[in-house]
Amino acid sequence: MSKRFYLTTAIDYVNGQPHLGHAYEKVVTDVLARAHRSLNQEVFFLTGNDEHGQKVQQAAQAEGKTPQAYCDELAAVWQRFVTRLNLSHNDFIRTTESRHKDVVQAILAKLHAAGHFYRAPYAGFYSTKEETFLTERDRRPDGSFDPFYGEVVELVEENYYFRLKEHQAWLIDYIETHPDFIYPDYRRNEVLGFLKNNILEDLCVSRPSSRLNWGIPFPFDPGFVTYVWFDALSNYVTLPAAYNDPLVLQALNLPPRPNTPALELWPADVQVVGKDILKFHAVYWPIMLKAMGLPLPRQLVVHGWWQKDGQKMSKSTGNVVDPIAVIDKWGLDAFRFYVLRELAVGPDGNWTDAGFQSRYHAELANGLGNLVNRSLSMLKRYRQGRVPKRSDELASDAAKAAAETKRHIENNELQAALVSIWGLVTRANQYVDQTAPFKLAKDPAQAARLDEVLYNLAETCRVLAVLLWPFLPETAARIYAQLGLKETPDRMAAAAWGALAQGQTLGEVTPLFPRQDQPAK
Ligand code: ME8
Ligand code: MG
Repeated sequence: MSKRFYLTTAIDYVNGQPHLGHAYEKVVTDVLARAHRSLNQEVFFLTGNDEHGQKVQQAAQAEGKTPQAYCDELAAVWQRFVTRLNLSHNDFIRTTESRHKDVVQAILAKLHAAGHFYRAPYAGFYSTKEETFLTERDRRPDGSFDPFYGEVVELVEENYYFRLKEHQAWLIDYIETHPDFIYPDYRRNEVLGFLKNNILEDLCVSRPSSRLNWGIPFPFDPGFVTYVWFDALSNYVTLPAAYNDPLVLQALNLPPRPNTPALELWPADVQVVGKDILKFHAVYWPIMLKAMGLPLPRQLVVHGWWQKDGQKMSKSTGNVVDPIAVIDKWGLDAFRFYVLRELAVGPDGNWTDAGFQSRYHAELANGLGNLVNRSLSMLKRYRQGRVPKRSDELASDAAKAAAETKRHIENNELQAALVSIWGLVTRANQYVDQTAPFKLAKDPAQAARLDEVLYNLAETCRVLAVLLWPFLPETAARIYAQLGLKETPDRMAAAAWGALAQGQTLGEVTPLFPRQDQPAK
């Protein structure tokens, strides 16, 4: 048994509409998952839904449904969403599943027994929209809270608290001595700044069940349910426990589940989250893990937020990007390409329909699409679709693109990887223009030269399919099929030049990205 490369996304609030931001986070994680598989690692990719909490209880009530029935309906919407994005995830966790709830209770029991919690009266502010506690320090100069938090209510009640102060020093030290723990750098500095300039307040980890019953009951006090963030963060280890991960079972003193082969998952290798939930993942989550006796994840990859037309996306103003509508009209890979090419993992991005269409036409239709289509069409026309003898004129360009792509992927630089891949697309399109195979074809004396050119083009298309696989899996598979290859281009090692064999016969050649000149909705 060997440790899997374990990647996670945040788990989405089940009652929110799946939108561009959620799609982006899942696509970024999917690219990393596919890329690491392509580099021969055994990967486990987890995504899911966050289903407890006050927000869900209130929304279900407003619709006259039980919270469970309400969650079941919405979780089905999220699962369709994930399918539509062609994610290569290995499991989908819902926090209302017993495999999750049982382990959360084991975590609570362990932390309570070890003296991490105490009970005390709570008086403070709570944002239901963000399911987060606020303090006086969160007030703006005029005394109000940021509208991001929605309605903020004052609470006075007994609760359980998690002692955090004793964890501050080691956490600062850990982040300072593990420069890769938080990516990118400026997010790491943000966390360090926060930890060095504030004294951590103890975290309220319960809600009285008299007020909120849509949560996981405390195993040692039936009067309380688990605070939704404590519950949600735990999913990253409750899932490994469900797969009998020995490290997690041992830390929580849990028996293995019968008839379940053990997988080594924890610690996570990459946890992808948005910038708004950085504090939960870079402060509370490491402290929870330390208290459980588990190692910290290797890396938090923190992405930025998307706006549309320079404005915050908002349903009330209709200023939203519906990823499914874009995918229906332009294809999944066009969507994946735009979000990955437009925005590096880290900064904030801005979606514009004009920018989307311009990249579609310039880089997909005229760039990659045109290269593959004209290369393979000429091979059909001039050589009956049979691959000629090997020639290595573009081999070093292909090797350079492959090496750069691999290096960028390993550094989470997905945008830069696409820039490298498109460097090869551009080089090959120039090669067509420079060698002019349509002229060579008219001169029988140039037959050997035409063979060389056609081989270089077809083999470049093949290498591109391999490099593109993590990013645009459908397109990569279509290029392989058009080359008449039966395999899936899912091994990075296959990017090595020269694998296309002489005599190989092409499949059907069709445009990958048809032009769509009517304005998009
Ligand atoms: O925060 N652009 O769930 P969530 C980019 N349940 N990313 C965005 C975005 C945007 N406009 N809007 C949201 C929660 N996201 C919790 C997480 S994890 C243990 C619990 C991202 O549905 C956001 O940054 O509000 C987060 O990573 C993810 O979508 C889920 O957000
Ligand atoms: Mg949110």
